[in-house]
Amino acid sequence: MAKTTAQFQCRECASILNKWAGQCPDCKGWNCIEEIKPAVSTQRNRGNWTERETTTDIVTLNEVPETDTARFSSQLDELDRVLGGGMVHGSVVLLGGDPGIGKSTILLQCLTRVSQQYGTLYVTGEESLQQVNLRAKRLDLPRDQLKLLSSTCVEEIISHAVKLQPTVIVIDSIQTIYTDSLQSAAGSVSQIRESTALLVRLAKQHNIAIFLVGHVTKEGQLAGPRVLEHMVDTVLYFEGDSSTRYRVIRAVKNRFGAVNEIGIFAMTDQGLKTVSNPSAIFLSTHDKPVSGSIIMVSREGSRPILVEIQALVTESHLGNPRRISVGLEANRLAMLLAVLQRHGGIPLYDQDVFINAVGGVRINETGADLAIILAILSSFRDKPVSNRLLVFGEVGLSGEIRPVPNGEERLKEAGKHGFETAIIPAANKPRGQPAKVLKVITVNHLSDTLNLL
Ligand code: TYD
Ligand code: MG
Repeated sequence: MAKTTAQFQCRECASILNKWAGQCPDCKGWNCIEEIKPAVSTQRNRGNWTERETTTDIVTLNEVPETDTARFSSQLDELDRVLGGGMVHGSVVLLGGDPGIGKSTILLQCLTRVSQQYGTLYVTGEESLQQVNLRAKRLDLPRDQLKLLSSTCVEEIISHAVKLQPTVIVIDSIQTIYTDSLQSAAGSVSQIRESTALLVRLAKQHNIAIFLVGHVTKEGQLAGPRVLEHMVDTVLYFEGDSSTRYRVIRAVKNRFGAVNEIGIFAMTDQGLKTVSNPSAIFLSTHDKPVSGSIIMVSREGSRPILVEIQALVTESHLGNPRRISVGLEANRLAMLLAVLQRHGGIPLYDQDVFINAVGGVRINETGADLAIILAILSSFRDKPVSNRLLVFGEVGLSGEIRPVPNGEERLKEAGKHGFETAIIPAANKPRGQPAKVLKVITVNHLSDTLNLL
């Protein structure tokens, strides 16, 4: 008889404990520890490996039959782009995001249109059938083909799906789904994991593409945390401020395409609209140059995007001056301020510093460093910088300006939008003239850059 000891798991962060506790030692959450059943190891066949009958075969890599990943369009260009060129039959996609950001809206839009060609099933565990219908009606979406199911029991959903054999299923949301085989409450880690495992099996066995909607917790984690991410083929995150119109879908994992690809949408009263030429939306419109504002060209996924970085530096009355960044990494800001002080001779220890990427985008790349430094400097000295100036480059700890990938492409994009000057890392110097009017200034070190201004 195998010895089974009880094990406990945190519902929020999925860490495993040997005994129950009121507070999770890892994520510090309260009342989130629950008992889980450990897997019972099977002792059969110990040592007799050569006598075991196998049903699987080993093949050489080049013997594997080549199949094209069959795709179909989600009927939304930007969604197709993040998915790597369309939905893949039999794939499981997790769409995460804050409540109210537009997950249900986009999937309803996508599914009603796909339903004109393929079999579709929309499973709603959160909203009532009436609410879904009302929204589709208000958005003027075709309602004659889409099949709806209001259910939260995964076994029931699967048995409906096997009978209906749709091409795509949307589960809205995975946190409301439970399986009969477990006792714990819907929304707990074990429930989510088990239900997802069953749905993944359904997708693979019946070649049904499945979209899972997942809510993100306050801390920015997918509730029922990372356990889902490795089970699915693709993980997409919906980002954006609910106060701004623009929404970004970012691929953080994709077995069928590139990661870090983004799709850009605008939330309108007619639902989400794709933004096919996003370059200019993350700029604010100033008539004349203002201090503390610098435009950079960032490369998100496979295309360059112009983004405005704003900084505000004001005298601080606090012992610990504030460093606040919105849409940019806070640690990076602290590092850049230290570089600016040490290698630029500009002390900001008695100043509050705020930086912001306009339009609610999030910039994850180091190419923003130079723009952040120049924006801070421009605000600190209250010197406006021409709004025809464009900047990109990474700043190292010794004050050196380092190259970023795809320099020429960024310059081309800048040329297309009529920028007149570009300050870029010396190693990114283009071979030819990227655009007619664009004057390219290359810099090697932070001190060169400060002299320029
Ligand atoms: P929803 O898709 O319900 O969010 P989620 O499923 O991610 O929780 O989005 C709801 C929000 O979108 C709501 O705050 C209102 C807004 N919205 C619009 O602005 N225009 C529209 O046409 C629709 C349908 C929603
Ligand atoms: Mg919803």
